[in-house]
Amino acid sequence: MAIIIQPLLQKCTTLSHIQQLQAHLITTGIFHFHPLHRSKFIDFCTTISLPYATQIFLTISSPVTNDWNAIIRGNAQSLQPAKALSVYRQGLRKLACKPDALTCSFTLKACSRALACNEAVQIHSHVVKYGFVADVLLQTTLLDVYAKSGCLDSACKVFDEMSVRDVTCWNAIIIGLAHGNRPDEALELFKRMTGDGQGEGVGVGFKPNEITVVGALSACAQLGMVQEGEKVYEYVRREKLDVNEQVCNVVIDMFGKCGHVAKAYQVFNDMRCRKSLVSFNTMIMCLGINGEGSEAIRLFNEMSKEGFRPDNVSYLSALCACNHSGMVDEGVKLFEAMTKDGLVAPNIKHYGTMVDLLGRSGRLNEAYNIINSIPVTITPDVVLWQTLLGACKTYGNIELAEKASRKLVEMGSNSDGEFVLLSNIYAAQRRWKDVGEVRKNMKYKQVKKVPGFSYIDVKGAIHKFVNGDRWHTHMEEIYNKVEEIMCRIMEHGYVPETDYVLHDIGVEEKENALSYHSEKLAVAFGLMNEEEDISSPIRVNKNLRICGDCHEVMKLVSKAYEREIIVRDRTRFHRFKNGLCSCKDFW
Ligand SMILES: *[C@@H]1O[C@H](CO)[C@@H](O)[C@H](O)[C@H]1NC(C)=O
Ligand SMILES: *[C@@H]1O[C@H](CO)[C@@H](O)[C@H](O)[C@H]1NC(C)=O
Repeated sequence: MAIIIQPLLQKCTTLSHIQQLQAHLITTGIFHFHPLHRSKFIDFCTTISLPYATQIFLTISSPVTNDWNAIIRGNAQSLQPAKALSVYRQGLRKLACKPDALTCSFTLKACSRALACNEAVQIHSHVVKYGFVADVLLQTTLLDVYAKSGCLDSACKVFDEMSVRDVTCWNAIIIGLAHGNRPDEALELFKRMTGDGQGEGVGVGFKPNEITVVGALSACAQLGMVQEGEKVYEYVRREKLDVNEQVCNVVIDMFGKCGHVAKAYQVFNDMRCRKSLVSFNTMIMCLGINGEGSEAIRLFNEMSKEGFRPDNVSYLSALCACNHSGMVDEGVKLFEAMTKDGLVAPNIKHYGTMVDLLGRSGRLNEAYNIINSIPVTITPDVVLWQTLLGACKTYGNIELAEKASRKLVEMGSNSDGEFVLLSNIYAAQRRWKDVGEVRKNMKYKQVKKVPGFSYIDVKGAIHKFVNGDRWHTHMEEIYNKVEEIMCRIMEHGYVPETDYVLHDIGVEEKENALSYHSEKLAVAFGLMNEEEDISSPIRVNKNLRICGDCHEVMKLVSKAYEREIIVRDRTRFHRFKNGLCSCKDFW
């Protein structure tokens, strides 16, 4: 009997074959008396028709674990992985099935695909309850699930508890952290892995591979920490890892995001492996954010000549490049080319960049028209209107500003900025009734604030500051330094920003007056560390866009203290030197 089933299964290609075989198995009694074969049959059946397999499963009077596992696995791999979770629950509660390690493993994989973090926690508790915690494979799966579904704390916990860690596990957690907005921890782990960090070292024999370094490099890129990035790159070369296309791309990205455009270009030009569209896109983006707009466009054209057809990312990179360099006409041309050939449909990011580019150059009506031209299939998000609003503020266009902020309020935007702005506009026009209306509305909504923070790297350690920070161990000295800085730059003509009408000074910023913005604290801290080599610039990374006041302060500090300052904000670099900024005040 044992021999017959496998070859028979191989011959089944349609549901009706399956049904014939099923009839045969039932009449010969195999179905009832040989659960092992039945499970194999059900498992195979899931590959032909999952609904049919499920139906069979539900008619079995006392299913064995393998029957159940087959259905869970089938669902976990299907387009609706979440269904595996209900099959799991159903088996546990209604059918009194007993899970084994495989059951948990398949169910966890379903959680991973469905990004179901809470469910994963539940299965995790079952793993403990049924005594499978020591199973290394299950631990790896758990780690993977947590890392992929963004439960990074749980992932770290599993990781710390693991008895045996192989490279795949390390990779899961490093990539998870790097992609989960926790690059500092990703990098710390990478250092631990190479024995270069603080704390507990790693067992021998777990050498980072290509996948690990990609995770570590992307963490460096996010942190803007070029020295660390270079160390990783050095590691790649020293250990003779395969400098494949993916590694090159991420090195280019890292150098680009750290403001070392020449180094990025060198890596790009020296690539031994074949450049892909992604390599070009990465390089174009890198040139763009570093303000090398015309070079970016040149590369964009060269890429097309080399036979690469630009995709949505290429266009976005090129448009961003135009935007950062204020190349309005080129941007408009690109956007027209993109929409004309119809091969690449613009998405919200392309529209957003165009609105920003036009808005910044004062072509407000064109920007407004772009928003209105967006097809109904794409819902214009609040960011577009916020962008337009920002431009209206810059150019003092009250009429459009009112339209935009009204729209934002209508769209249920939760940021306090628009409310404050709209109310300021009305106040300036003495429309007190409207002011009252807006204020009332504002009280209803829960106002969401994105906290601003900055990183600075001093003597190889990363320090993080949030707006109005009070937690740093040297806080008092830092605040004193900020005061000193403010006094000193006043002698250089600094006037704090006091014009509130067209600025959305929100509640938070009022509370933590301008001088406590995180980038100012970080720079003050940087200046305090006088043992640092003063010929090297102070480098700060900020998560939000640098505000007008901070920008002005940085310029004056670079002059008053004769120190170069590089601030990377959410979107670009600002290089302050001798009282000027590389963005030429266009940002
Ligand atoms: C480009 O298109 C792909 C597929 O439609 C999409 O997943 C991706 O997010 C897009 N990228 C950008 C930058 O627009
Ligand atoms: C456009 O460029 C400016 C100036 O560099 C930048 O601040 C802004 O974030 C960019 N906008 C987009 C959508 O990339």
